[in-house]
Amino acid sequence: MNIYIETYGCQMNVADSELVASILKKEHFSIVEDINIADVIIFNTCSVRQHAEDRVLGRINNEMSRKRSKKDLKIGVIGCMAQRLDKQLNEMNSSIDFVVGVDQYNHLPAIINGLYNENDFECNTIVNDAEIYKDIYPIHSGKFNAFVTIMRGCNNFCTYCIVPYTRGRERSRPIDDIISEITEIGKKGFKDVSLLGQNVNSYHYKNVNFAELLKKVNKIETIKRIRFITSHPKDLSDDVIKVMAESDKVCEHLHLAMQSGDDEILARMNRGYTSQHFYDITQKLRKAMPDISITTDIIAGFPGETEEQFQRTYDLMKKIQFDYAFTFKYSPRTGTKAAEFKDQIPETIRLERLKKLIELQQDITTQKYKEQIGKIKEIYVEQISKKSEYEMAGKSRDFKITVFPGDSTLIGKFVKVKITDAVGWTLKGELIK
Ligand code: 5AD
Ligand code: SF4
Repeated sequence: MNIYIETYGCQMNVADSELVASILKKEHFSIVEDINIADVIIFNTCSVRQHAEDRVLGRINNEMSRKRSKKDLKIGVIGCMAQRLDKQLNEMNSSIDFVVGVDQYNHLPAIINGLYNENDFECNTIVNDAEIYKDIYPIHSGKFNAFVTIMRGCNNFCTYCIVPYTRGRERSRPIDDIISEITEIGKKGFKDVSLLGQNVNSYHYKNVNFAELLKKVNKIETIKRIRFITSHPKDLSDDVIKVMAESDKVCEHLHLAMQSGDDEILARMNRGYTSQHFYDITQKLRKAMPDISITTDIIAGFPGETEEQFQRTYDLMKKIQFDYAFTFKYSPRTGTKAAEFKDQIPETIRLERLKKLIELQQDITTQKYKEQIGKIKEIYVEQISKKSEYEMAGKSRDFKITVFPGDSTLIGKFVKVKITDAVGWTLKGELIK
């Protein structure tokens, strides 16, 4: 049976799709990349904002017509929307044949095999806060970078966020499993690994914390680059910053979600830090690693946010100068605390504020890229450039796409490139022999 998986949302979902592919393959299903030959279409979904959910529902609406010409085609929903909406999904669209929550992926083969009749519907969204998918090695879909899940779930309950409700309580994978998975990946040729979790800084397994984990991964010979996502500013310790600076393989690249630059809003978000604390971390990081690229997430128009409070976010973004910022308009999620707050901000104001943040960040990012001109950067060459067959493209340690004249024998290698130009958000350079 051919299975096509379409993934939405964060890197955790990308990693989960790879996990699901592995679970299904073991039971002799084939994973296909062409939706036209699929017997089963699985949507791995995200609930973090309403827009993300609407997009998937739209996609399912588009694809359900396939059932007219292929009566036994099955459509399933997994991931955060499955967990949040459960059976309701089938009421919203009866062409959905199965719904499987984030802790029940081991049951997917049996669930799919159990759908005999056209109107059969299966739903399993039982929460299991202990599920870590031990002994299942995902099928890594990338060629150069592999995602490795080190923990699942989240205990932080930021008041705007649905994730603790959809992904359950925080749990760390055993250290030995992580190390052996990364060692295996290294043997397969991957040199770049991203460690994943909703809050990697609170990784804890027996006596190994996140700083220790990084040190251990740094020792795996075949691996040349290490990144990790996502870090929570309240838990990013000095120890981790020190290990980042001292470990040659840990890249100078950190995603650190600021969310707001106003202390009262941060408190109402239940973020557990102040704007000063956040600013101080960015300074510590830059002191320890002068070339570090810091990216962030910001929410515009959180309930109760005044013009002055919004301005503080704007000013702090300007002061910190992130390499890039993912900016979002606040989206109320049913079941979260913030959705119940009485002082919701009208949509027009949320959008207006979002626009201001986007414009500010565009200028900063452009400037940050210009500052790279003249630098010599190590590039992990991934592919022939989309624009010219005589140019190669790859990523720098600080995660900037870099293009330079060269031939395809360089693919998969690390080269030194001198940056000569920044065109939009792509660096251009020349190979240094
Ligand atoms: N509305 C808008 N943005 C949100 N995020 C999480 N929940 C919401 C929400 N309800 C953003 C946060 C988080 C990123 C993954 O998504 O900025 O860091
Ligand atoms: Fe959501 Fe906060 Fe957990 Fe991140 S740390 S997943 S924003 S609750």
